[in-house]
Amino acid sequence: MKTTLSIIKADVGSIGGHVAPSKKLLGTIREHVEDAMTSLLSDYYITSTGDDIAILMAHDKGPGHVDVHRMAWEAFKDGALTAKAQGLYGAGQDLLVDAFSGNVKGMGPAVAELEFDERPNEPFLMFMADKTEPGAYNLPLYMAFADPMNTAGLLLSPELTKGFRFRIMDVGYTEGDRVIDLELPEDLYNLAALLRDNDRYVVEAIFARHDGEQAVAASTTRLHNIAGRYTGKDDPVLLVRTQKNFPASGEVLAPYSVAPFVNGYMRGSHVGPFMPVVSGTGCSYFDGPPIVSCLGFCVHNGRFTEPVDMFAHPFWDTVRDRAATKAMEIRRQGFSGAAMLPFSELEYGGITNLLEKLDRRFKVRAEKGANELVGV
Ligand code: 13P
Ligand code: 13P
Ligand code: MG
Ligand code: MG
Repeated sequence: MKTTLSIIKADVGSIGGHVAPSKKLLGTIREHVEDAMTSLLSDYYITSTGDDIAILMAHDKGPGHVDVHRMAWEAFKDGALTAKAQGLYGAGQDLLVDAFSGNVKGMGPAVAELEFDERPNEPFLMFMADKTEPGAYNLPLYMAFADPMNTAGLLLSPELTKGFRFRIMDVGYTEGDRVIDLELPEDLYNLAALLRDNDRYVVEAIFARHDGEQAVAASTTRLHNIAGRYTGKDDPVLLVRTQKNFPASGEVLAPYSVAPFVNGYMRGSHVGPFMPVVSGTGCSYFDGPPIVSCLGFCVHNGRFTEPVDMFAHPFWDTVRDRAATKAMEIRRQGFSGAAMLPFSELEYGGITNLLEKLDRRFKVRAEKGANELVGV
């Protein structure tokens, strides 16, 4: 019997701005999912990072199953009612359509799902991020699955030396799912050329070439492509199976020590360092910084162990301090240059209106180099 892991994640309201969900909101969602336990799920775990809530589920229905997706959608709908009743900010923010239509993909919530035959021991990591876009995982996944400078297993483990297949999605293409498979290590430079561009190309899945098993599933939702305007940031989730035929948990975590600059900070329009935090951490400085949490589990016969919070270890305090310094450094330059996203990625219409008005005030000189302006 195959086990499916599904994470469905949404922001349906938060306390104090885009900061953190209320206990009551989490309670509403938990109650709803608990009711589904007997009929639908073999296990579940609910957690939050920033203002986003993730429902992690184990079941045997396979990815994209209508009943699992409908249940999660309704749980978030119920949550949005609680958020509204409590006067939470952004109540129902990520529920972009009125009626459920078979699968929450394309409806606002982020989804990551993996189906596999359980190994005798099946460790996996669940990542959640806030104030960023799916491409934030590009660099950590590249380092963990393609770079022997990070992952010693790519040299030391007979299974890992066979390499990995990366499935990359072009999230700029909105007519459908445009994907490409790249074979590592042969395609190393091709992979780097795509993953350089976090806005456009995003890791969707990774498979071990040794046995074809899927190691990674990531959410690829870009909300502004669904809504056609800024409604909130994507805040992606990620599932990674680890150990044996996959990188070790520690190899998957190591790249987060870089605290790389990612997009999505304040109003979804700024660049900030990706700070590893303990699960349940809210946002603060300039609505951020962008944060990532990681819980480690084992799943056995469809049941989870309790989680271990991977970024609670004292090692990450130093990384957090460095990320805070990086955040303050880049904020010193305000809107200027690399601190704010390029025009194509700016998430608010305000600047478009402003520039349109200014455009009308531009004049072209009659002669190059002359001082007079045409029409003055
Ligand atoms: P253990 O011997 O503790 O299982 O560790 C093996 C390993 O590969 C750790 O990275
Ligand atoms: P969220 O997407 O996390 O709600 O953040 C929105 C925002 O604009 C914060 O500045
Ligand atoms: Mg929000
Ligand atoms: Mg959020």
